[in-house]
Amino acid sequence: MKQFDVIVLGAGAAGLMCAARAGQRGRRVLLVDHARAPGEKIRISGGGRCNFTNIHAGPQNYISSNRHFAKSALARYTPRDFLDLVEQYRIDWHEKTLGQLFCEGSSKQIVSMLLDQCAAGKVDIRLQTSVSSVRKSDHGFRVSLGGETVLSDALVVATGGKSIPKMGATGFAYEIAGQFSVPVIEPRAGLVPFTLDPAMLETLKPLAGIGVPAELICNKTTFREALLFTHRGLSGPSVLQISSYWKPGDEVVARLLPEVPLRDLLHQAKRENGRQTSSTVLAQHMPRRLAQFFTEQAGMISALADMPDKALNKLADSIQNWHIRPAGTEGYRTAEVTLGGIDTSALSSKSMEVKSLPGLYFIGECVDVTGWLGGYNFQWAWASAVAAGDAV
Ligand code: FDA
Repeated sequence: MKQFDVIVLGAGAAGLMCAARAGQRGRRVLLVDHARAPGEKIRISGGGRCNFTNIHAGPQNYISSNRHFAKSALARYTPRDFLDLVEQYRIDWHEKTLGQLFCEGSSKQIVSMLLDQCAAGKVDIRLQTSVSSVRKSDHGFRVSLGGETVLSDALVVATGGKSIPKMGATGFAYEIAGQFSVPVIEPRAGLVPFTLDPAMLETLKPLAGIGVPAELICNKTTFREALLFTHRGLSGPSVLQISSYWKPGDEVVARLLPEVPLRDLLHQAKRENGRQTSSTVLAQHMPRRLAQFFTEQAGMISALADMPDKALNKLADSIQNWHIRPAGTEGYRTAEVTLGGIDTSALSSKSMEVKSLPGLYFIGECVDVTGWLGGYNFQWAWASAVAAGDAV
């Protein structure tokens, strides 16, 4: 039976980083994944350009039952640290918006960089390898990989969350947690489009494909980014962001075109040229199809001069104070992340080690720390991986 110092389960963002870091400290590391290729989510992320970090990333950008937990790891491995690594490999990058850093070329460069870092740490990587069992012995861990059993002093679980099962995502980390009595906060899909009830979907059908700036509010949280009407419901960055704060049954308030004073503009237009329709006025500030939709919904197709001021206010409110009750979300099938996961109260915030079981670590998305959209989730993967990689 081969003995390692560290076995890392999952060769995704967190697993690759952790294995490289531990290997470069002279630890004998085995990195195992059931997928055919390592870092598959890195490869497809950011539309193939990988939004690998966010320069503004801080604890305020993460959702967790303990909002202080991520502070230590994030402070010890910052976006600048990851950027230094990217620059060391001469990978060109650019800031797209809101501090989001993307590869100029391909996300595959990030995967190659991490594999090179693993090679520098002499990490033994086994792909297409399933883990059939994990046991704790007096001397460490016994992990069965198909026909072979391997031993290690430390075991790092980096198998991610349940999002996108088609890409090999499993709830394996939660199973391991269950086996060792580590508490888990109920996982659920995050950064995911909303679905609508059939009647509302039918009503909004003509708008499919339209994107508008919007401010979405739910459970005292607000995001201002684009909203996209789709054939299945609502999507776009603002919707994905607010979805992580939404629970079934909650209402979401949408303020489309939040920077445009629609009420004032409609009243002004009525004063200056009462013969035009409200749809004509609105179409100067939003796609014509959207303007027509809201005016028809409000039954306001005649000239502005014939509209009472109250009706104009109501029309503006239907656009800028729109109350939506989503039927649900698209679930793990399309969710970018999984909220919830390994309860942080069971982990050391410095090393990610299970307090009740020294030698066992959980890192990355399987932990109950979930970032906003915009490079925050990879930054958590890197930071939690470094915390464990430096400790194992
Ligand atoms: P990750 O999912 O990366 O890795 C887990 C690994 O474990 C996988 O390789 C998997 O095969 C393996 N595994 C699972 N179960 C196993 C088992 N039973 N046995 C063996 N191996 C197993 N974030 C961001 O910051 N910027 C971005 O641009 C994007 N873009 C993006 C796009 C899309 C489409 C998705 C789905 C997600 C993103 N994300 C993102 C989120 C980001 O991809 C995610 O948060 C990290 O990949 C999490 O890293 P982990 O290493 O924890 O899990």
